[in-house]
Amino acid sequence: MPKLTVVAHDGTRFELDAASGSTVMENAVKNSVPGIEAECGGACACATCHVYVDDGWTEKVGKPEVMEEDMLDFAFEPNSTSRLSCQIKMTDELDGLIVRVPERQA
Ligand code: FES
Repeated sequence: MPKLTVVAHDGTRFELDAASGSTVMENAVKNSVPGIEAECGGACACATCHVYVDDGWTEKVGKPEVMEEDMLDFAFEPNSTSRLSCQIKMTDELDGLIVRVPERQA
């Protein structure tokens, strides 16, 4: 099962076993990672599941699709590594992925 590390804004690291096919958001919510609100439940319609992808992982995770990119405009302080965590599906290729939670959600 791929490993996923979610770093909360206070620096706490949540090291999770994430089933292939599950999203980063689902794993963060299931493990009560603070700062992932996910108000729309994963429909790419709220931008409250915003995370920053760790520098070494941005290429593997890939770029957001158009709809996600539009929603990211509503996120708090998005940058070039920003993704909506409900739109990142875990795969074996992403084993070891690290994402960081922003200071707050929009
Ligand atoms: Fe709403 Fe990800 S949970 S956009």
